[in-house]
Amino acid sequence: MKAIVTGASSGIGRDIARELVVRGWDVILVARRTDRLMELKKELGKHAKCVRCDLSHIEECKKLHEVLQKEDVELLVNCAGFGLCGSFDETDLDKELQMIDTNVVAVHVLTKLFLKDFIDKDKGYILNVASIAGFFSGPLMATYYATKNYVTSLTGAIYEELKRRKSNVKITALCPGPVDTEFNSVANVKFSSAPIDSRTAASQALDGLMKGKLFVVPSPKIKCLKFVKRLLPDTVTTHFCYSFQKKKK
Ligand SMILES: NC(=O)c1ccc[n+]([C@@H]2O[C@H](COP(=O)([O-])OP(=O)(O)OC[C@H]3O[C@@H](n4cnc5c(N)ncnc54)[C@H](OP(=O)(O)O)[C@@H]3O)[C@@H](O)[C@H]2O)c1
Repeated sequence: MKAIVTGASSGIGRDIARELVVRGWDVILVARRTDRLMELKKELGKHAKCVRCDLSHIEECKKLHEVLQKEDVELLVNCAGFGLCGSFDETDLDKELQMIDTNVVAVHVLTKLFLKDFIDKDKGYILNVASIAGFFSGPLMATYYATKNYVTSLTGAIYEELKRRKSNVKITALCPGPVDTEFNSVANVKFSSAPIDSRTAASQALDGLMKGKLFVVPSPKIKCLKFVKRLLPDTVTTHFCYSFQKKKK
């Protein structure tokens, strides 16, 4: 059984790769920092191999699929991603476009290409790492929240299509709140509430994926937030999101 994990050089992706090996999978680790990937490969031994890929380049995403197609991959984890903080008129456009390419375009391309392979074989799993941000509008992190809305929406639609065709292929979106990783230093924010550790997020994500859940929201507090979102108008939740995000700066 072989799995690809993007964003495996750090945080949630690295712990998903570790957890997959514990569960008997071989893993193909994908990211840009090859020194980090090699370190993890050393830890995981013969169960891991590394592929360097800058997912913000669509051609590299397509090439990744082409190269790995002969590997008989059964599980894809789209975990690579990053955020950026600041009011929308002030944040850097090029950085945001790179974020959209990584968080949205790469997820779209890899999901489509591997999904087609999985549907042909009528087996396979896709885990898209979204965020609780994927259910809200996020002032002061507007683009990041929007990218994660794309991921939750896309995953939900594919989930329903697979269900209607009675497919054995499974797709899940992991939607965590704060997780203790390098995300904050990259996004230049600090947590405004206590984070969970990435091992917990990884293990719950894989449990949910294997059970065929659409959304996995690790931590009861964050589950409550998702529930509250259903009860309140968008203007109200966005108002609270602004205050929440402001504390992170
Ligand atoms: N931490 C949180 O609080 C939190 C909460 C909800 C959702 N998430 C989501 O969880 C996912 C993983 O983030 P994390 O928290 O684990 O942060 P992290 O520790 O910073 O890890 C981010 C990973 O993404 C990879 N990556 C970024 N840009 C890339 C690119 N252009 N090409 C290839 N790989 C790229 C990084 O690898 P290289 O730099 O080596 O390329 C790294 O492995 C993200 O999608 C994030 O949005 C995080």
